[in-house]
Amino acid sequence: MKLPFFLASRFVAGETLDAALPVLDELNSDGLHVALDKLGEHVYDREVAEAARDTYIDLVHTLADRTNNDLRNRISIKLSMMGQLIDEDFCLDNLRQLLEVAARNDIFVRLDMEGSDLTESTLDLFEAAYDDFPNHVGPVLQAMLRRTDRDIDRMCELGASVRLCKGAYAEPKAIAFQDMSRIRERYVDYMERLLQHTEYSGIATHDDQIIDATKSFADRNDIEPETFEFQMLYGLRRETQREMVEDGYNMMVYVPYGTEWFPYFSRRLREKKENVWFVLKALFKS
Ligand code: FDA
Repeated sequence: MKLPFFLASRFVAGETLDAALPVLDELNSDGLHVALDKLGEHVYDREVAEAARDTYIDLVHTLADRTNNDLRNRISIKLSMMGQLIDEDFCLDNLRQLLEVAARNDIFVRLDMEGSDLTESTLDLFEAAYDDFPNHVGPVLQAMLRRTDRDIDRMCELGASVRLCKGAYAEPKAIAFQDMSRIRERYVDYMERLLQHTEYSGIATHDDQIIDATKSFADRNDIEPETFEFQMLYGLRRETQREMVEDGYNMMVYVPYGTEWFPYFSRRLREKKENVWFVLKALFKS
């Protein structure tokens, strides 16, 4: 059974790019940077993976045409959509083709991080592309994973731009912290290292404890707000996003769109009771 889209409309900008573009324009007009994500994951067919690559390439052109110099609009992609589960060399080839176009148009490509079965492969593919495109590609690291301590060291060594998040996938205790206070404590440590040693990393969270810790760390260490950014998801903490821009911080909003919104939507519902409430409200309004 397919759920009606309006249930997801709080978190997903539309089922088509045309529906998502007015959202991009509105966020940009309020000074918010945007990452567009064409939803989809876990592709097992070469032709579908190539079509995803071509869609991402078209998206780069669309963004380049619409973006003025003050805004850092970019795309966010999942490698599992571009052939990672079929053959890593094939996926790398697709990624390189995309990055060629992205670099020519000066559009950054963020590699979303999926479940832990793909962490190693995603970071390997990132490193394989990074040498040739150091200013246009960066990974996501998840504070909940125990391995992230080492991965942060590696990214600091490379100076790569990282998006840091808590991690949205259920992972076993053996490889991931389960306790929120421990995840926050790890997050803050990683944030401090990224702000000191990498170019323009993204602190992706809606969590005030982490946001406050980031602001105060930057302040104490004379780290200028323009050297990093905060990131939030479309539909969440909308006023806070704008207040942070008014306070002089870079804020990027992750804007997903597309018909394959269900897995993304269910991750948002699992995360927070308030998100379930948004859906119930949409249901009662209909
Ligand atoms: P969390 O949901 O843990 O909430 C912590 C606290 O923050 C709450 O108790 C409350 O105090 C405050 N808070 C949260 N939401 C609020 C609201 N709406 N209003 C008021 N207060 C609120 N994950 C992944 O595995 N791979 C990825 O590639 C990405 N990419 C990504 C990009 C971006 C831009 C973001 C923001 C997040 C991701 N994530 C992700 C998801 C991420 O890993 C995580 O699951 C969610 O961000 C939820 O964790 P938070 O730290 O945001 O707050």
